[in-house]
Amino acid sequence: MTRKTRILVAAVLCMLSVMGNSARAEPGPLASYDPPLDPAFAKLIANADLAAGARYFERKCSQCHDGDKEGGNFKGPHLWNVMGRMAATREGFRFSTAMKAVKKTWTYATLNYYLADTERAVPGREMNLTGIDDDATRANVIAYLRTLSDAPPPLP
Ligand code: HEC
Repeated sequence: MTRKTRILVAAVLCMLSVMGNSARAEPGPLASYDPPLDPAFAKLIANADLAAGARYFERKCSQCHDGDKEGGNFKGPHLWNVMGRMAATREGFRFSTAMKAVKKTWTYATLNYYLADTERAVPGREMNLTGIDDDATRANVIAYLRTLSDAPPPLP
């Protein structure tokens, strides 16, 4: 290689690596990743089985979370009005440093991302639940969380 070619090759490699970085939208911690709401998943939420979501919440979430309007914080934060709320802002609950670092609002997209894999979404979170693998089950739970609100947001 001549010196000129070497410089050219280096310049191209450098450009490629910069492009690679800016195009990277790899799923990582919520603090630095904005998850999209997949249209197919939005449909699952819109057509969710609310009763099944409520049953799942009762079995898997209620030992730590209170979802009643008149309720409060428990082992986990009070989940009334969680949708549309900024993460880690429920008054009176001691959130982990990891959850405080999220600084994002709970929406269909962020809740879905969090509840799919809690450790990937919030590394170091203090919620002892790995996640909900099944898409339809997760959609049912999210649709149920939507109802725990003074003003439920429109369905997606
Ligand atoms: C073993 C107890 C436990 C279980 C079970 C549990 N959670 Fe949690 N949850 C927590 C704790 C503790 C936090 C706060 C985490 C932190 O600060 O890192 C939390 C945080 C959350 C948050 C963020 C709230 C906010 O105000 O930012 C949501 C949403 C949530 N949980 C939903 C659920 C759902 C839905 C389920 C059931 C599928 C569930 N959790 C099961 C303990 C639990």
